[in-house]
Amino acid sequence: MTAARIRIAPSVLNADFGRLTEEVLALEAAGADAIHWDVMDGRFVPNLTIGPDVIASVRPHTSLPFEAHLMVDEPAGSLHRWVEAGCALVTVHAEACTHLHRTLGAIADLDARVGVALNPGTPPQAVSQVLGLLDHVLVMTVNPGYGGQRYLAEMEAKTSHLRRELDRSDRTIRLEVDGGISAETIMRARGAGARSFVAGSAIIRHPDGYTAGIAELRQAAGEGTSAPEDVAAA
Ligand code: DX5
Ligand code: ZN
Repeated sequence: MTAARIRIAPSVLNADFGRLTEEVLALEAAGADAIHWDVMDGRFVPNLTIGPDVIASVRPHTSLPFEAHLMVDEPAGSLHRWVEAGCALVTVHAEACTHLHRTLGAIADLDARVGVALNPGTPPQAVSQVLGLLDHVLVMTVNPGYGGQRYLAEMEAKTSHLRRELDRSDRTIRLEVDGGISAETIMRARGAGARSFVAGSAIIRHPDGYTAGIAELRQAAGEGTSAPEDVAAA
């Protein structure tokens, strides 16, 4: 019995920023379901990456959904920027929001899909009080800030806990993992309950190119050709 199609959202963090639109188009042609933009402010995480204008410059060139992973301290003041830039899903870190419930509600008020990310040190209970606001939960399987890090298998228990909790919810809430996802780790993450997978290095640095990288992940996840299980609009 082959499993349903999974959702693959390549991270462009390690792509060639000098050819970003070409890179995104190559990922679209390679079978990506969405583009995962890693936004880093140099404060919540040590690294500093892109702003909304960069995302907006790529937006017109592709039909792929964009998801913004905001590794940004107190993101509430700039949420509209990411939506205006063309991100249909905005994911904030629970650890970065003094007023998480209010911030998630503000994303929903912008008519974007609402996501929350949890660092490896944050328990799943951090989202228990806001499940009614969520469309998406992102479990970090690395400590955020950089691509190419080692997958933290100890996050599988948290992923499974959240899988059970989301399955009890009357909302459809996607469960995504992010960090160190490769052909060697994706089946474990899927077995723990993830249905959407962010992958950077495993795709961008694949020796045989992006199409082979994405195909290898789908195959390693035991994907079938049946209808997508979790490839929503964004
Ligand atoms: C890390 C980012 C991840 C990372 C994934 O802070 O949130 O999206 O870029 O890259 P890999 O798949 O190489 O770990
Ligand atoms: Zn990310």
